[in-house]
Amino acid sequence: MPERHPDAPTDHRSAAAPAPRPELLPQARAFGPAPSGRGPRVLDEETVIEARPGTEGVARWLRSAVGAATGLPLAEAHDDDRAGSDDPAGSKVNGGANRIVLSISPRVERHLGPEGYVYSDGDSDGDGGSDGAALRIEGGSAAGVFWGAQTFRQLLGPEAFRRAPLDTAARERTVPRAVIEDAPRFAWRGMMLDVARHFLPKDGVLRYLDLLAAHKLNVLHLHLTDDQGWRIEIDRYPELTATGAWRERTKLGHRASPLWDERPHGGYYTKDDLREIVAYAAARHITVVPEIDVPGHSQAAIAAYPELGNADVIDTTSLKVWDTWGVNPNVLAPTDTTLRFYEHVLEEVLAVFPAPFVHIGGDECPKDQWKASATAQARIAELGLAGEDELQSWFIRHFDRWLADRGRRLIGWDEILEGEDPREPGAGRGGPSSPGLTPGAAVSSWRGYAGGIAAARAGHDVVMCPEQQVYLDHRQHASPDEPVPIGFVRTLEDVYRFEPVPPELTEEQATHVLGTQANVWTEVMDSQARVDYQVFPRLAAFAEVAWSRLPPPADRDHQDFLRRMTVHYTRLDALGVAYRPPGGPHPWQKRPGVLGRPIDGAPPNV
Ligand code: ACM
Repeated sequence: MPERHPDAPTDHRSAAAPAPRPELLPQARAFGPAPSGRGPRVLDEETVIEARPGTEGVARWLRSAVGAATGLPLAEAHDDDRAGSDDPAGSKVNGGANRIVLSISPRVERHLGPEGYVYSDGDSDGDGGSDGAALRIEGGSAAGVFWGAQTFRQLLGPEAFRRAPLDTAARERTVPRAVIEDAPRFAWRGMMLDVARHFLPKDGVLRYLDLLAAHKLNVLHLHLTDDQGWRIEIDRYPELTATGAWRERTKLGHRASPLWDERPHGGYYTKDDLREIVAYAAARHITVVPEIDVPGHSQAAIAAYPELGNADVIDTTSLKVWDTWGVNPNVLAPTDTTLRFYEHVLEEVLAVFPAPFVHIGGDECPKDQWKASATAQARIAELGLAGEDELQSWFIRHFDRWLADRGRRLIGWDEILEGEDPREPGAGRGGPSSPGLTPGAAVSSWRGYAGGIAAARAGHDVVMCPEQQVYLDHRQHASPDEPVPIGFVRTLEDVYRFEPVPPELTEEQATHVLGTQANVWTEVMDSQARVDYQVFPRLAAFAEVAWSRLPPPADRDHQDFLRRMTVHYTRLDALGVAYRPPGGPHPWQKRPGVLGRPIDGAPPNV
């Protein structure tokens, strides 16, 4: 057990046999001895929440989520319920011990960081009396208190994950005593959700925020635009959604499949929807990072505003929102018109999303149209660039500086490291620096670790999300029963053994690894149930990788993880998650006859 936090209560009767560890997921950092000779804590209609300054939002969440599941009011403590001081032993006044005390502690912040917490429900007031002390959750900040509240919900049992009590007559609930200190390994614990390929209605996004919170994940990267759909209302450019938010039909399965879903598909989030999503996330200490993908993956935008495309190469007025999958040759024209258009779009994006980071994509931009375009070639000549790769860097640098001027940070897929800035010769992928990016620019390393290693060595922050490990669209098993199987086989155990920090980095360089993210591309996921199937249970393993300080991959206690997973499946059941069962898909989860594209053997980028 690591160094004890000075605030962590000590049980004075700890000579007793150690209590079994609660089945938390993700695993907590350290457990103190739970008291012997005391039964579980009883929660009843008299139980109150004392929310000290800054924790009122956590109290609101507890009341709405755990209150709904248990049927208990979890009322606010009134003055005569309060201990009236920081006396950890609590008070004998009415409700004194029958309290959940939430507080922010600078000492916890110092020892465990802002997202750390100490959960203490182990000690008593020392007199052996039956009332004991209050349950206390102290966080390094409100976020830490919130993660402690998630632990409390897991300790309460699977029924605490439902929206109403199963036994409405029950007047009491019990929760085992525990003393826990905990803190995340990484500050960025994310999931990317592709709502462009298949739109997930707003309720589904809010539901995913709840699922992330339940796993102590704190970043939702929303992939809002792509060739197949534009999902964010932009007041200045209404055609982006009027035309760009829907497609006439959709390829069913991999692009080589002969099948089509002939139903129109689409949808978008209004500004108010997105403000609601951002606020709902903030109440769960989750940051929403919006992605507007440029200069590739832009056919939906070009279909809406043909002047954005390479009109001297193709007839951009004939383009429609793309109805199939793959890397698309129809990319943005590198013109002033395009730059101004996306500045206007980003102005509206910034007004809705307060996150420090804005993702501008930058991935998979084929250069064929730029090679053929007199306009693009003139721009290359005018800027003195060596070719199309440098033109892409110029494009990205423009938005990097534009965002930095507005106090935000650009994050992009690892292609943003490619190309050179002619003002900085020698810089580039793997080189001493990055191609002219501002120091605050960060990289989502998806084509393996290499981009992340290069970025960290160049002093840029990195989010590790290699497709070989944490692309959850990839199949979970080699069986042909997997629905629309694509990519590599990446099992629950594979994800559990994922290590975000590559050994090539020095300790100093590794500080640039902000964290890690699982990516959920939805080409072959046309419903919430399909998304659930691909995401779960693997997101639980991912959450443990992102939160817990695990040993090196080969030494990880996979058996202990599976033991805790047996309990976690019952939480997922209560939450209504349509996960992949350990034995393979339910009959209704299969998609017989829909072509996938399984990749055998070693992935291409390792
Ligand atoms: C990506 O998977 N194209 C970022």
